[in-house]
Order: sequence, then C-alpha cells, then structure tokens
Amino acid sequence: MRHLAVLGSTGSIGTSTLDVVEAHPDRLSIVALAAGRNRELFKAQCERFRPACVSVAEPADAAWLQAALNYAPEIHHGAEGLMACATCPDADTVVAAVVGAAGLASTEAALRAGRRVCVANKESLVVGGALMHQARAAGAGQLLPVDSEHAALHQLLDGRAPESIREVRITASGGPFRDWPLERIQAATVEEALNHPTWKMGPKITIDSATLMNKGLEVIEASVLFGLKPEQIQVTIHPQSQVHAMAGFHDGTYQLQVCANDMKLPIQYALTYPERLPGPVPVYDWTQARTWTFSLPDLERFPCLGLAYAALRAGGTAPTILNAANEEAVAAFLAGRTSFWDIQACVAETLAHLGPQPVQNLAQVMACDHEARARARAWLDAHA
Ligand SMILES: NC(=O)c1ccc[n+]([C@@H]2O[C@H](COP(=O)([O-])OP(=O)(O)OC[C@H]3O[C@@H](n4cnc5c(N)ncnc54)[C@H](OP(=O)(O)O)[C@@H]3O)[C@@H](O)[C@H]2O)c1
Repeated sequence: MRHLAVLGSTGSIGTSTLDVVEAHPDRLSIVALAAGRNRELFKAQCERFRPACVSVAEPADAAWLQAALNYAPEIHHGAEGLMACATCPDADTVVAAVVGAAGLASTEAALRAGRRVCVANKESLVVGGALMHQARAAGAGQLLPVDSEHAALHQLLDGRAPESIREVRITASGGPFRDWPLERIQAATVEEALNHPTWKMGPKITIDSATLMNKGLEVIEASVLFGLKPEQIQVTIHPQSQVHAMAGFHDGTYQLQVCANDMKLPIQYALTYPERLPGPVPVYDWTQARTWTFSLPDLERFPCLGLAYAALRAGGTAPTILNAANEEAVAAFLAGRTSFWDIQACVAETLAHLGPQPVQNLAQVMACDHEARARARAWLDAHA
C-alpha cells in the first residue's frame, strides 16, 4: 500500500491523481492533501479521503475549512502548510502538482525527506533541476516524472546504458495555433489560446501549450531528468497526441511509446512503478484505423521554444529567468493585460537583460526568480 500526499489536489493533475487512487483502493491511500483557493472542491476531497494533514493557501480558507469539515484533521496554510504536507511522516509518496515555481520548495523538501516524488510540477525541475537531484541523493528517495512525455521517456530509457542513446524526441500536439499564420497568432485572444485541441489542462499550461513554451520547459525537464545534452532532445509535432516520446539509439533504431492521451496513465505509472496495474482508462483500441502525422516545429511562429533551448544552453539560472518571466507574462495575458505575442517578447527581453549565474542553492534560485519577475512585470507595465 502506498500512502500519498497530493500537493495541488484541486487542479487538473490533482483530481486525476485522486481518480487513480479511487481505482486502486487496495493499493493507494491518501494521507495528506494540499490545495490553493478552491474551498468547496477541497472540502469535498477531504471528506471523501479523510486525510489527517491538509493545507490551503490562505489563513481565511483554513478557518473556513475548520468550521466546514465533518472531521478534524491538522489544518495548515501557506508555504509552510505545503511543506507540512510534503514532509508528512505518514506519507511515503508525494505527488507534486502545484502549478508554477510556487511548487519548488515543497518538491525539494519531499525529495530531501526521502519520499517517492511524482513530479508534475515541471517548473521545479526547470528552475531547480540540479538542486532536485541533490535533494533526492540526500534523502535517498525517488524522482519519477508525471509529465506524459517524460513518463514515456522513463519507460523507453529505463535500464538502458546512457551511451546507447543517440537522441530522444518528445512530441507536441502543436496547440490550437499549429496551422495558423504568424499574423493571426500574434493577435490571438485568451479564449482562442485556451482552446487546446487534445488535452484538458489548467489555464497556465494550456497557454504554454499555445506558445510551445510548454514544450520548451519539457526540453529542459528532459535534460534534467535524463542527463541529456540540448542537441540530444528534439521536438516533433504530432497533432494526434498518441505517441508521447521516441528514443533513438546509435544503431539507427527508434522505439516509440504509445498510449491514450489521458494523464491518469502517466500518473498511475509514477505511483505504481515498477508494477503495471490495470489501467484507469480503456485499453488502447487497435481495431480503429488511425492516421498519425509527424512534422518539425516552426520556431519563427513559436519563438518560445527557441528561447527555452537558448536558456538550456546558457545554463545556470537562465532557465529560472525564462520560467519566471513566462509565468508573469502568461498571468498578464490571462488577465487581459498583455497580448499573446508579448509573452515571447517579455521572456526574450528578461533573458537578455539578466545574465545567468551558476546555481548554488535554493535561496539564490528563488532570489533570481523574484528579480526576473520584477523585471518582467516592469516590462509588461511599460508595454501595457
Ligand atoms: N494538466 C496537465 O495535463 C499537466 C500535464 C503535465 C504537467 N502538468 C504540470 O502539473 C502542474 C499542475 O498543472 P495543472 O494543469 O494541474 O494546474 P491547475 O489545474 O491550475 O492546478 C494547480 C493546483 O495547484 C494549486 N495551487 C496553486 N497555487 C498554490 C499555492 N500557492 N499553494 C498551494 N496550492 C496551490 C491549485 O489550487 P486551487 O485550484 O485550489 O487554487 C491547484 O490545486 C503544472 O506544473 C503543470 O505544468 C500538468
């Protein structure tokens, strides 16, 4: 039996994780839940799973929860509350599914505490990759990816000698603007950008999918997780989202990983690895005729992907700067304060302005994150 702490339980990954737990009550249980501001859903989740340790973002939400719940768990709030759930002594497994750099410290703490950490929060790996490896080594725990492409790569590369791998390819649906001309992309609205063709996800990652920044963050994530050089990680546009990744070996052979585009599959893989339990979604139906297409991304229409490669090559804190500026620009776009095209302009300007430093520790990385956010916000205000 695995005992789970789910950080970000009210989000897209969080709710899918709870669906997987419900499908395997004899193998998976919930001992801690943490969320942000979605009070009603969080209350229902707590009453359904009755975890002993829970956390919400604000003190007012914690007080509301205490009065509303029909049982009496330990109720925490804020960054310290997330940490309490991440390091809850009853949990052996932590699902890190908070969105954004807000998830960094709790992911690191869970690794340092020796948990199996199933990481959906790709920002933790992008911003603090080297630090996450150090924390995992210090805690002697495990780090398993939840992102579908990285779960696919984990399945393809597990047990392989690193020197046998020539390259990997992660696939991208191409997002809603895959076939749009540049001028139309530049003027895209929030509603158009949120209309993802194949995946249902939270708003931030959906915008990142429209700019292809999500794929850029995943390239950095793949480098961190599998120790690959930038030139060994390629992106292939595959609108059907059925092949999630490919591993290319030195003899010229490729292996592909295929499954339905449902995040419950990679979540269950990370939770139950190395076992393969019956799937939480219908088995892939090979009796259906299918057409799969593959093409290369266009960096002129999707410059965020090129910016992510540049940050990975620059190294040090460059991915932290990239991520911070992107989070600020995406938030401004979602709030109607900037245009779709200004997301990439803001990230490019922030990266050009702040030179990368070698990564030393979490405090330094968070200081760099704050500096980059301030710079990006100033740029966004000046261009509003
Ligand atoms: N969705 C996907 O299919 C997918 C696939 C691969 C990777 N990912 C990655 O997984 C992560 C989560 O994505 P998502 O799509 O699930 O996001 P989401 O739907 O927006 O959910 C985010 C979760 O984080 C919580 N949260 C936000 N700020 C918090 C804070 N300061 N303290 C505590 N909890 C906080 C939210 O709580 P409230 O809603 O209660 O405020 C919610 O539970 C992201 O890093 C994303 O890149 C997602």
